Amino acid sequence: MKLTYLGCSLFLVLALVSVLASGSEKGLPILTFDEGYNQLFGDDNLVLHRDGKAVHLTLDERTGSGFVSQDLYLHGYFSASIKLPADYTAGVVVAFYMSNGDIFEKNHDEIDFEFLGNIRGKDWRIQTNVYGNGSTDVGREERYSLWFDPADDFHQYTILWTDSHIIFYVDNIPIREFKRTAAMGGDFPSKPMSLYATIWDGSDWATNGGKYRVDYKYAPYLAEFSDLILQGCAVDPIEFLSKRCDNVQSLEQLMTGITPSRRSKMGSFRRKHMTYSYCYDQTRYKVPPQECLFNPQEAKRLKKFDPVTFGGGRRHNGKRHHRSRASRSEADSI
Ligand SMILES: *[C@@H]1O[C@H](CO)[C@@H](O)[C@H](O)[C@H]1NC(C)=O
Repeated sequence: MKLTYLGCSLFLVLALVSVLASGSEKGLPILTFDEGYNQLFGDDNLVLHRDGKAVHLTLDERTGSGFVSQDLYLHGYFSASIKLPADYTAGVVVAFYMSNGDIFEKNHDEIDFEFLGNIRGKDWRIQTNVYGNGSTDVGREERYSLWFDPADDFHQYTILWTDSHIIFYVDNIPIREFKRTAAMGGDFPSKPMSLYATIWDGSDWATNGGKYRVDYKYAPYLAEFSDLILQGCAVDPIEFLSKRCDNVQSLEQLMTGITPSRRSKMGSFRRKHMTYSYCYDQTRYKVPPQECLFNPQEAKRLKKFDPVTFGGGRRHNGKRHHRSRASRSEADSI
């Protein structure tokens, strides 16, 4: 059955409002690499394991590597278990994200998880960001520490994207909810996107604004991916008509809103682990984007963490690195 674009959204919104209490994600289809993805770059730096259920991406002095979903999706639930490279990883970037930049060069959409490596003994940092319709001059980054070492073991990272909001999860705990507002206009991602996973050399900006570069003495840097889940509405890339929405039953389980108990977990995560929020970055926004709600405690905590960025003291010009998806100021602290 061919559903329209609109039909598909409606489908998902209906699924979303029928909130189920269950947090169980049993029964979600886990894809093999060949069922859902193609290699994007990096020739033999992408290697399949466990009958194609696990993907190893490496970065060495020749190249990084990456893969991309075979389909474009309009809304859905996108997830992977990821184990990051250990030891010295300064300058290394691992990204798990959605984008349509290859189709819409001037007005692309993007939803990002980015992992920024670090020098030995310092933790990986995790960053989320959202762009809509080419809004790359309005960065909406947040950055966090984690309550575990993401290089020690696999942890699940999930992007849930509906017509009305985007939720980022780590191990099923929501860490960020990004709601569509009227003022946002086209800045909320609204065109079909592919899912990507990549590892690459971000020496110029990723760690302390480029101070610590990738050291290939420690290569290859290995990022492992497994439990690949793609649940959503796959759309035809030419006509943008839905060709397949995964069945409502499983989508219902996925598209649940945030339950009160998870909302409180999200609050405590953000209180403990958020180290950067665009909403309080006075070096970039004299007036924060309209969706930002001022929380005095958050402001105070971030200011303590980084008085230059969040204290309204010294200003710099806030020029962004091309396609870095992170301002230099935010990548500054390690
Ligand atoms: C998205 O960008 C295009 C091209 O710049 C523009 O024509 C369109 O109106 C924008 N859409 C929204 C929803 O803002």
